[in-house]
Amino acid sequence: MATPTAEREQWGSRIGFVLAAAGSAIGLGNIWRFPFKTGENGGAAFVILYLACIAFICLPYLFAELSLGRNSQKNPVGAIKAIKEKGPWSLVGGLCVLTGVFILSYYGVIAGWAVGYIFKDVFAPAVDAGQYFTNFIADPSAVIPLLALFMLITIGVVVGGVEQGIERWAKVLMPILLVLMLVVIFRSVTLPGAGAGLDFYLNPDFSKIDGAVIVEALGQAFFSLSLGMGAMITYGSYLPKRENLLVSGGYVALFDTAIALMAGLMIFPAVFAMGATPDEGPALIFVVLPQVFEAMPLGGFIGAVFFILLSIAALTSTVSLLEVVVSYFVDETSFNRKKAAWLVGGFTFAFGVPSALANGAVSWLSDMSWLVSNNIVGQNPSFLDLMDFVWGNMSLGMGALLLSIFVGWVWGSEQAIDELQQGSGDTFRGTLAKSWSVFLKYICPLFILIILANIVGINLIEQVINLFG
Ligand code: PHE
Repeated sequence: MATPTAEREQWGSRIGFVLAAAGSAIGLGNIWRFPFKTGENGGAAFVILYLACIAFICLPYLFAELSLGRNSQKNPVGAIKAIKEKGPWSLVGGLCVLTGVFILSYYGVIAGWAVGYIFKDVFAPAVDAGQYFTNFIADPSAVIPLLALFMLITIGVVVGGVEQGIERWAKVLMPILLVLMLVVIFRSVTLPGAGAGLDFYLNPDFSKIDGAVIVEALGQAFFSLSLGMGAMITYGSYLPKRENLLVSGGYVALFDTAIALMAGLMIFPAVFAMGATPDEGPALIFVVLPQVFEAMPLGGFIGAVFFILLSIAALTSTVSLLEVVVSYFVDETSFNRKKAAWLVGGFTFAFGVPSALANGAVSWLSDMSWLVSNNIVGQNPSFLDLMDFVWGNMSLGMGALLLSIFVGWVWGSEQAIDELQQGSGDTFRGTLAKSWSVFLKYICPLFILIILANIVGINLIEQVINLFG
């Protein structure tokens, strides 16, 4: 077991950690991705599957990342090295760090769109929403400065350090986000015709569930909780031993889930009230919502508010993505926090430029079917789609699979349980601890394998169903 160094920064309070970790989890994944995935996958039935995945897979796996982080008091690479000094396992830590850089590169692009949409109503109050979106994301003079701006703000927060930067910001931003969302929900559910949206969102039609929907729900739950690239290892490393990881982790999952559910409540009643369709895909919030806002009283204001809160949510996620990489440089090299944040942030911006240009600005980046001809990534994938596929899906899944095996088998679930017992009183013992061990060693890797197999086009669930049906 590594001895924690006296100088390592720690969160100032439990609420500080919970808000910062919830801030990492809550982001574009909840407010942009969750509603469009729900809309594409049949509504309420998908929501129920998603909730089951959070409760039975992601939450227990979250404890593995938190326990590894707090035990080692290190970034993902250092955490693995502290347990297994030599051999290929430290490459898994390296994969986490790389994944952080590359997810951040294209996540920053979409976050930039959200910032741009704050001002949409000022510049273009009454244009065709679909056309506006298409033109806006294809305009380099808009999307590149917005990406740069978003990266600068992210770097600024990370340079501030754990307590002064991330924690202080999270404490201010997260409650604002909650209040803003409640305002939009109130407007949305009181629109005439909102009932059909509530029905779609809350009244499950189980005939819509098939293997693909199950796998989508599992993948979404995973991405949404920031799992699989060491963000929760890193955030856990700033926690003191007296902290109850089970309770804190539970709060994080609870907040993340609540915000996703609230995002759905904000969007679906409005979509149906406007006679729009829920299966617009990734464009859902950018195309449908401004249209919805336009047609309601105070719409310009509500639209601006919505995109402010989306930007806030994205910022607390980009901060965690950058923090994983910066903590690696601070722990493992001679770089200080400031230098590491500027350097990594600068590179990430450069890597983000092709993703920013991949939505109409540069044609060979916008349609990369010349490079990938199969259908795994979808029809005519852009460079951004490919980045999301490789880093947001494959690499995240691979990281989580390997990390659960590492914690369960290499470090040993007994050690992880020992770590989880510190600060948690008498709650995590006996049958509960034993079942968690079985989960970590067998069930969790198996489920992640199902996600990964699906990503490369093999639907294991469907194959098993076929086998018995
Ligand atoms: N969970 C974040 C979101 O929902 C995205 C993210 C993934 C952040 C992985 C960090 C690590 O937007």
